[in-house]
Amino acid sequence: MRTVPTIETPMFLQAAQWLFDPLNYLTANFKRYGDIFKTHGMLLGDNSPVVVISDPSAIQYLLTHDSGKELSAPGDAYELMVPIVGRQNTPLASGNEHRRRRKLLMPPFHAERVKAYAQSIQQITQEALAQSLADKFVDVRKLMGKITMRMILQTVFGMHSGECYENLERLYTHRLDMISTPWSSIFFYLPWIQNDFGSWSLGHSFHKLTKEIDQILFTNIQERRTHPNPDRSDILSLLLCAKDEDGHGLTDQDLRDELMALMMGGYETTATSLTWAIYWIYSLPDVKEKLLTELNTVATQTDPTKFMSLPYLNAVCNEAMRLYPPLILTLPRRVEKPLELCGYQLEPGTLIMGSIYLIHHREELYPQPHKFSPERFLERQFSNYEFLPFGGGVRRCIGAALAHAEMRIALGTILTQFDLSLINDRPIVPARRGIGLAPSTSVQINIKNMQQIPAMCN
Ligand code: HEM
Repeated sequence: MRTVPTIETPMFLQAAQWLFDPLNYLTANFKRYGDIFKTHGMLLGDNSPVVVISDPSAIQYLLTHDSGKELSAPGDAYELMVPIVGRQNTPLASGNEHRRRRKLLMPPFHAERVKAYAQSIQQITQEALAQSLADKFVDVRKLMGKITMRMILQTVFGMHSGECYENLERLYTHRLDMISTPWSSIFFYLPWIQNDFGSWSLGHSFHKLTKEIDQILFTNIQERRTHPNPDRSDILSLLLCAKDEDGHGLTDQDLRDELMALMMGGYETTATSLTWAIYWIYSLPDVKEKLLTELNTVATQTDPTKFMSLPYLNAVCNEAMRLYPPLILTLPRRVEKPLELCGYQLEPGTLIMGSIYLIHHREELYPQPHKFSPERFLERQFSNYEFLPFGGGVRRCIGAALAHAEMRIALGTILTQFDLSLINDRPIVPARRGIGLAPSTSVQINIKNMQQIPAMCN
């Protein structure tokens, strides 16, 4: 049996390519080695070799056999996230502990429950855009960040306004922005940089902000435990009451780490997907026109859930996430029993990651893969292993239904209630942002109000 081809480039060069030009790194190696190759490119922030796969049937095997016997989905292989989200949460847990935590976390994220957040999503979008009307240039990434951050603060943390809400929004956004340029992303991949070398260092500022965030979160958790309110429906309230089969609930540290993981999972990813969608819609007049025609068919003011099932809007959202998926790799899976994949032998202990980006750019699935073409999602159905922005298997994204609703309602609201125009129409390409991908330069717009927004804007 053949062994998986290993990338021959020296390790430090691979690491640099992975950090500064991740898409070309993946694409060049796909062209050279094909559907499966082994890297030493620090994909997981350490020296562990990782096998990257991009063949849909191999991905299907990976994501349907990852519950422990043939393959597992080990949280400890994702240590690079610990400084950001802590250790006591679902993404960092493995095996039975992972199953237990997911079971506690999942109910408020079910598609039916998510519909209850539709009004909030619409209201947050209206407020955020109305507050930007006076600005000459609006940075779409920052605006979409504001919307997704507020969504998470309201739906997950149950915070709607006030000092805590504003401080958490400011501190968390600042902390993430600090480690989000291609250069500062090395914070994730070179753990020694995370040390506190004095007040001038990145590590120092990062830990200071983390302490301030923790103080708000722990105080909030304590208050909520002391004064429980059965009428609240936010995710933290549900988690505070959640018990597993043995009657065990979550500790304060568990709750803090789960909240940080949900913030990390849901903020950047959704904001980036929305930014790309806005960029494409307002760069391509045909797309905008088709969307407006479709949007005009629904009575949207009263029921924003109507935006959630429009075929063309759905196709636009999918295409934005196909072309530049915010996460270009799945979380790692580990081989537990000797395994044959794509005709190669994989030994126990081997780590595998599915390349979402490479799958989404396979020419036979997506002709002209670099073109933004929502129609492809109307012309054919893609399987869960051909289109997988949210991954799959035992670690499939917990927030997929929430992100789905957020994107469709925010875009539907923006298109029907505001008049946006791009400040310039230069092409924008993706670049590394933290562990993910985002537009390399800011997408700038100008916003005009098209209609009277109900009185909620200050
Ligand atoms: C467009 C938006 C989003 C994208 C593209 C996205 C993508 C992903 C991907 C690719 C994974 C890994 C799946 C795998 O390895 O198979 C994941 C996991 C996860 N996502 Fe998302 N995500 C998004 C939004 C959200 C939101 C809104 C939340 C919550 C508020 C969230 C929370 C999580 C969590 C907690 C996990 C870890 C699940 C586990 O370990 O079991 N994500 N996401």
